[in-house]
Amino acid sequence: MQASSMEGKVALVTGAAAGLGRSTALKLAQAGADVAIVDIAEDGLRETASDVEAAGRKALVLSLDLSERANCATAVQQTLGTFGRLDALCNVAGVMKPGPTTAFPDEAWDLTMKVNLEAPFFLIRAALPHLLEAHGAIVNVTSCAAFQGQAYFAAYCATKAGLTHMTKALAMEYIKEPIRINAVAPGGMMTGLVHGMAALAGCDRELIGRMGSLRGMCEVDEVADCVAFLASPAAKSYHGACINVDAGITAD
Ligand SMILES: NC(=O)c1ccc[n+]([C@@H]2O[C@H](COP(=O)([O-])OP(=O)(O)OC[C@H]3O[C@@H](n4cnc5c(N)ncnc54)[C@H](O)[C@@H]3O)[C@@H](O)[C@H]2O)c1
Repeated sequence: MQASSMEGKVALVTGAAAGLGRSTALKLAQAGADVAIVDIAEDGLRETASDVEAAGRKALVLSLDLSERANCATAVQQTLGTFGRLDALCNVAGVMKPGPTTAFPDEAWDLTMKVNLEAPFFLIRAALPHLLEAHGAIVNVTSCAAFQGQAYFAAYCATKAGLTHMTKALAMEYIKEPIRINAVAPGGMMTGLVHGMAALAGCDRELIGRMGSLRGMCEVDEVADCVAFLASPAAKSYHGACINVDAGITAD
């Protein structure tokens, strides 16, 4: 699964300061795209920008908190203002706040909904007219948590199932238009996100153990290859798809 040329094209990648977002931004730059990189973590963004520039492409650093709704439109406007077009939107940013439901804080619920579910919608809403003009693509990063009942992850699972189904609803709404809208559902990857698992100390280990794959973790770069492929014209027949890259977790 490899991205085709993105020469002359522009991609906006959220969550690009680390992990899957950074790898996706780099893959798209290597395919020839200039990249607007969005994240709340400015230091990480600067490192990603260096990687993109080392690949010979331009990077626009957008240090924004996507839990603030207005920042979603700002990210799109600034991308257009700098590069003049938008060909691909990759919604990669996410938070994972696990915990026993009776002790789950309101703030963790609100943040999970805002970053994982609402921000992709408001980014998509702002980007759609420009993506239609460019015959572009949207790729939403969901999770195997969209398909598995994961103990202690009710909020996270709800947002990832919601984003997966939002992808399908949008794919139908725009099925007659020149745009492709897809999702990638990764399994476990060794990134900063999984440090959140520490909050599960003291929870039932048997239930936690049921979330993993017998084949172990997925490689970040391998998942990023899939995101970049769907963002590129190579994926011309993909629309409304959700590709599971999860080492067999959802085979169960
Ligand atoms: N790591 C896994 O095991 C795994 C499994 C399935 C799905 N995913 C999904 O993959 C995506 C990328 O996660 P990752 O594994 O690379 O983790 P990560 O923590 O390395 O990356 C997530 C990025 O999102 C950014 N972010 C968080 N809140 C933000 C906000 N309010 N505004 C802007 N940016 C914000 C973080 O700063 C971080 O750079 C997420 O959507 C995650 O849910 C991860």
